[in-house]
Amino acid sequence: TTVEHAADDYELGGHTDFMRKEMTEQPEAIARALRGRLDERFATAHLGGLGLDPMALRAIKRVKFLGCGSAYYAGQMGAALVEELARVPADAEPASEYRYRNPVVDPDALYVAVSQSGETIDTLAAVQELRRKGGRVIGAVNVVGSAIARECGSGVFLHAGPEVSVASTKALTNMTVSFAMLALLLGRVRDLSAAAGTRVVTGLRALPGQVERVLADDAEIARIAKRYAHARHMFFLGRVRGWPVAREGAQKLKEISYIHAEAYQSAELKHGPLALVDAEMPSVVIVPADDLVAKNIGTIEQVKARGGPVIAVTNADLPDGLADEVIRVPRGEPELDPILLTIPLQLLAYHTATALGRDIDKPRNLAKSVTVE
Ligand code: AGP
Repeated sequence: TTVEHAADDYELGGHTDFMRKEMTEQPEAIARALRGRLDERFATAHLGGLGLDPMALRAIKRVKFLGCGSAYYAGQMGAALVEELARVPADAEPASEYRYRNPVVDPDALYVAVSQSGETIDTLAAVQELRRKGGRVIGAVNVVGSAIARECGSGVFLHAGPEVSVASTKALTNMTVSFAMLALLLGRVRDLSAAAGTRVVTGLRALPGQVERVLADDAEIARIAKRYAHARHMFFLGRVRGWPVAREGAQKLKEISYIHAEAYQSAELKHGPLALVDAEMPSVVIVPADDLVAKNIGTIEQVKARGGPVIAVTNADLPDGLADEVIRVPRGEPELDPILLTIPLQLLAYHTATALGRDIDKPRNLAKSVTVE
């Protein structure tokens, strides 16, 4: 079930492991994804590999992202970006489900197959099912010449560079960055104003420097990770823009630390899972600086009232003493918040796994790319 690590071809460059190296490379990886693709003059993006002219872009009635694991969560972030910037209905679904459920293929939809490796069998099978039924599917793939890239024939390459660690970091970041450009492009052939487009272009240009600043918070995040590394279970809570971030954060923690982590939409907490909260159950609460800050403060208070420790990950101003720990990220354009808010969760998982002595790059039972069922 595995494609073996290509570590021989690829140097650690002084880093202790590939995950660390790949997290550190994110600013340059983002810059590479943006290179030559942002158009300041028309406040839009150029994604030549899509092979879609403005009429074809305008004819798209909805967008569906398909991927597995973290690629699926990136797709969820992409769907939110498309809805917010282009006002085109969009959603994401695990490719592993899609391929098996005799899906209704919409001829007016754009399907986006999301994969770092381009070799994930479930995602490839979803693409083949779509193509067999006449669906229009493009790839969002990191590895050029991979099976999914070839099967799709068009799309957007992620330009993250080689990713060796099983836990995906820079590829996932570049997926979301690419979807922000796709959303910008779809928006600008519709009703997204030039001023709003410029805001997004500026926000994207600022990302590498902002990610650098989050990475510089490493020692503080390591301290927090050590403090909670004994936990058996953890919640990751978020709403709207924070929700796929929470899912990805939980996934990363499970994958490399083997701590049981569950992601919930914050408002769902009171419909059942709140019963699990006690002093032994820390919650990571994602608080973007958006209209829902007050709601998220309410979530933190609910958890605190049951004795649950709270780690807030935020770019908002939270009342002093509200959370036990606060990890701050820079404030950028709100639609791009999921990208920045995801970075500290990589570090949190990384330092938790390190504190527990786990094999960072090769977690048990997992393969970098799942090429058989
Ligand atoms: C990410 O940290 C995981 N290792 C996993 O969920 C991964 O994203 C998934 O298997 C999809 O892989 P792909 O992007 O190569 O298709």
